[in-house]
Amino acid sequence: MTAGIDLGHPQAQAIQSDEDVVRVRQLVRTVAVAARLSLVDQTKLVTAASELARNTLVYGGGGEAEVTTVDNGLRRGVRVVFADDGPGIVDLGLALTDGYTTGGGLGLGLSGARRLVDEFDIVTGPGQGTRITITKWSR
Ligand SMILES: Nc1ncnc2c1ncn2[C@@H]1O[C@H](COP(=O)(O)OP(=O)(O)OP(=O)(O)O)[C@@H](O)[C@H]1O
Ligand SMILES: [Mg+2]
Repeated sequence: MTAGIDLGHPQAQAIQSDEDVVRVRQLVRTVAVAARLSLVDQTKLVTAASELARNTLVYGGGGEAEVTTVDNGLRRGVRVVFADDGPGIVDLGLALTDGYTTGGGLGLGLSGARRLVDEFDIVTGPGQGTRITITKWSR
């Protein structure tokens, strides 16, 4: 689930190229610093965002990332939503399994990203595109 209140406006970044994936990384890092995540947590979030942005580009055929600062009354955090209108993921359980890939990758992007963040929410299905929301909270 995605509890917490948005602070300020979400910042959007299109994902249509390798350069855009770099821009997503930079944007997430900037917001994570502003939200005062620790250096370790910044790096975990940026790593997860990088994997998901790459999947959005490669499998989703491009899409968008939206980065927002959130606050649940106890902690501040950073939330990133990745959305594409690609083919969607047919078998989500399989896709989240370490080592499963349809693209000749390592198959560690999704599963690894999930382990690196505090909240991981995915809405996908055949022909429905894919929308993944991740949140990292300050501690
Ligand atoms: N946005 C997406 N749209 C459609 N399918 C996706 C999407 N993201 C992931 N997948 C599917 O889930 C699989 C697993 O993704 P994951 O990121 O774990 O591995 P990978 O991208 O194949 O390899 P790696 O990320 O380790 O280089 C992909 O091979 C692909 O079939
Ligand atoms: Mg991947």
